[in-house]
Amino acid sequence: MRRLLRILGWILGVVVVAWLGVCAYLAATHPRVAFTAEELARPARPLPRGFLWGTATSSHQIEGGNTNDWTRFEAQPGTIERGETSAVAADHWNRMAEDLALMKAIHANAYRFSIEWSRLEPREGEWNEEAWARYGDLVRQLREARMTPAVTLLHFALPLWMADRGGVAAPDFPERFGRFAAEAGRRLGPGVDLWITLNEPNVQMYVGYVLGTWPPQKKSPPEALRAFAGLLRGHAAAAAALRAADPGAKIGVANNVMLLQPKSRLMLSDWLASMFVDQLWNWAFEDAIRDGRARLRLPGATLDERIEGLTGSTDFFGLNYYFRYLVRLAPGTPEMVAMTPGPGLRSELGGNDPVGDSPPEALFLLMREAWKRYRLPIAITEGGIADDRGTMRGLLIRGQFEAIQRARAEGIPVTGYFHWSLLDNFEWEKGYRPRFGLYRLDRQTLARTPAGGTEVFAALAPPQ
Ligand code: BGC
Repeated sequence: MRRLLRILGWILGVVVVAWLGVCAYLAATHPRVAFTAEELARPARPLPRGFLWGTATSSHQIEGGNTNDWTRFEAQPGTIERGETSAVAADHWNRMAEDLALMKAIHANAYRFSIEWSRLEPREGEWNEEAWARYGDLVRQLREARMTPAVTLLHFALPLWMADRGGVAAPDFPERFGRFAAEAGRRLGPGVDLWITLNEPNVQMYVGYVLGTWPPQKKSPPEALRAFAGLLRGHAAAAAALRAADPGAKIGVANNVMLLQPKSRLMLSDWLASMFVDQLWNWAFEDAIRDGRARLRLPGATLDERIEGLTGSTDFFGLNYYFRYLVRLAPGTPEMVAMTPGPGLRSELGGNDPVGDSPPEALFLLMREAWKRYRLPIAITEGGIADDRGTMRGLLIRGQFEAIQRARAEGIPVTGYFHWSLLDNFEWEKGYRPRFGLYRLDRQTLARTPAGGTEVFAALAPPQ
């Protein structure tokens, strides 16, 4: 009996030592970093000339007057908070010159915007010349103002005809999207420096096909994997079309990445849970591009297949950053993991949905990880905070600026920062409540006025 107890004691000891050893190894390979208050308060070291310092928007969220799968979704009762719709949005479609002047006033030298597929190809195969001309003018005016245009081809919303054929999961989505990209490259290519084929494919797949709270409102892991593969194929087709039309094109995807850390650095289960979600959420899409192979596992469905045209199709890693979560294993819950916001700035939305909980160390660690994985230049394609009172935006921008400076000092080629957003906009299912704008939008008069943080953005702009 005593011998048995001794053996059990040994086994337990070995398990505990191994457990702590693995945790110590993981802690050592995932060191904490800190940005001190002094660092964030001292006079800023300027970014180099040529660094892209701009704002980001998306067509459906600011233009107004669109007809796409989102407008149809918005018409369903209960889908959007307070029953708001994108019908007017910020009326940007009619105010492009005014909005360009807003960018100039804050010394932006770059602008990321999306071109609205549903406007440009309202019926399959039919191009809207007037709409192409309007975007062509915008590109020209940006260049005249010495601003670098970065164009997104798909920022969530789809033409109705594409949605009705099955959206991004439709077998012919890649071909249709590739044709749209070819047209964009041919018409706008010479004036556009950066192309972003897709905005946040992980969000589009998860919210549209797993949670089912965005179009097309599906809750089906197999469909989600079809959407994931479709988005990868669509990206590959678009990248090939852009390269053919505009050989100098610099192409990327805007990836939504969150910093996911174990709730307790002493719990192996928390490490494993955070690493699992990290791979699934943050890197699966760009890993597939790097490897030429899509690999993803969701409950009850697995994807593992080679996809032509992925390898080498991106020239930069687009990084959209908003969240940092602490993760722990939560047996017995449907997701098996529980996520709580980590410490940092909290946006006005609060709760478990911090939108803009963005300490600079989180952005820094994500840039480091993306560089380690892909060895591609990094553009921060979005960073921002919902901040109605305007008290946090300046701090956030200053913190993100320092994170970029530190990454660059480590040799990580970060080439641009696009603040989300130029002005308050239609924030998808949350309607107009979250205010991300450097400019505040009066929804009655549509007047734009500087919001808190605008002066910080302007002061940190690199020398022109
Ligand atoms: C999206 C934007 C959105 C922003 C703030 C990003 O994930 O790309 O469309 O407005 O988050 O919620």
